[in-house]
Amino acid sequence: MKVSPARIAAFEILTKIEHDKAFSSALLPAAEENLEAKDRGLCHALTLGVLRRQLYLDRLIEKLTNGKKLDSAVKIILRIGLYQLIYLDKVPAHAAINDSVNLAVRAKKTSAKGFVNAVLRRFARENTELDYADEIERISVETSHPRWLIERWTRQFGFADAAKLALVNNETPTAVFRLTAKSDENTLTILSKLNLETVESGVVSNAWKVFGSNEILRAYAAEGKIYFQDEASQLVAQIVALEDGESFLDVCAAPGSKTTLIANRKSQIFKSENYILDFRNQIRNPKSEIRNPIVAGDFYQHRIKILQANCRRQGADSVEIVRYDAEKDLPFADESFDVVLVDAPCSGTGTIRHNPEIRYFLRAEDFAFLAEKQLRILYGASKLVKPGGRLVYSTCSLESEENEAVAEKFLSENTEFEKITPDAFGRFATAENYARTLPQRDETDGFFVAVFKKRRVFDKV
Ligand SMILES: C[S@@+](CC[C@H](N)C(=O)[O-])C[C@H]1O[C@@H](n2cnc3c(N)ncnc32)[C@H](O)[C@@H]1O
Repeated sequence: MKVSPARIAAFEILTKIEHDKAFSSALLPAAEENLEAKDRGLCHALTLGVLRRQLYLDRLIEKLTNGKKLDSAVKIILRIGLYQLIYLDKVPAHAAINDSVNLAVRAKKTSAKGFVNAVLRRFARENTELDYADEIERISVETSHPRWLIERWTRQFGFADAAKLALVNNETPTAVFRLTAKSDENTLTILSKLNLETVESGVVSNAWKVFGSNEILRAYAAEGKIYFQDEASQLVAQIVALEDGESFLDVCAAPGSKTTLIANRKSQIFKSENYILDFRNQIRNPKSEIRNPIVAGDFYQHRIKILQANCRRQGADSVEIVRYDAEKDLPFADESFDVVLVDAPCSGTGTIRHNPEIRYFLRAEDFAFLAEKQLRILYGASKLVKPGGRLVYSTCSLESEENEAVAEKFLSENTEFEKITPDAFGRFATAENYARTLPQRDETDGFFVAVFKKRRVFDKV
């Protein structure tokens, strides 16, 4: 009885996600470290593939088993088996079925061996068709999003856009990398010889979409010479647009994707060798070092560690890192920063392309709870902004309760702040003067950004 390491790893990851609400983005890289190159790809494809098709696979399982109540391990094994039979042309049916049966034995579900075998063989033999009560149910099942989420998006975007969003959420997003403070004059030269197709980002500067991967790219990322970050997340950091000499606090900073980009914003002018040399001289010569303090904090110790590691890896050494609870008083004097970013904890519905499991973790009542938390953090952070300074509020949520509603409530209760136009390309501007990216429109994650300016005493109305 032998099961491929890729299938064992995928089964273990999917089990952790199901039972502990863990995230594939954390579990996959950890598991893949222990896999040989040939198994990595299959483990990745099985884990993300099953997560992206879970509701559809479950409906098939329900039909194939006549609604039998199943043990969770058996259900996960059937999901993995069916996924291979439907979507992985290169895996022969007998291999998918045999490995599923062996996986059942390995998972100490020996009594379910025959059952797993029978269900998968029935699927391979028969044409299993599903029925839907209406179009919402069809989109919900075929794209594997809970019905209530499709209904909510239909109310917000209309049915056609909600359906498109659900479809693109299941596509593998193109990887995008940007430069860091550790990038040097050789980085771009070497990257241009990767033998991989790269396309310069049309959303942010100094970022490239890359199709495929190889050892050099992985090594550069591991050394912090490049950093993989969705274009929409980079856009938020770009909107912060820190000027020389401005002090900055990133209130909810871990894992540090935006902190590091903002701290290394000089890397944004990497356009030619000259600029690169300029930049290198600056960081080597303390006199010309950027002297604006950059402070980044978070609540969770384990996330602070990732933030520290990320800053170190990318050469963002000047960032001061603090731990606090931003829902309570922050440990800084009032009006002590020129710019404060609240990249708030949110539902993450704009990042389902990267985190497919989010759709199964969310409950309809979460949004109101999150909006209250976001407002508490925003109120506390607003006290730290100097008169004339900026408060930037962002989320990776698509939901208006966490976005426009939070921004409008904040403004209505904090009249010393006024809304200003985010410094983003016009196509991301909304009618209400915010910036938004949408997966179904922009092929990026979905982010929301509001920029508020604190009036000076003489500006006050
Ligand atoms: C959207 S994530 C931030 C992502 C980060 N800005 C980046 O670009 O890498 C929100 C962060 O808020 C943190 N957080 C949640 N509650 C918090 C609190 N009460 N105080 C401080 N940070 C908190 C979470 O730990 C999480 O790291």
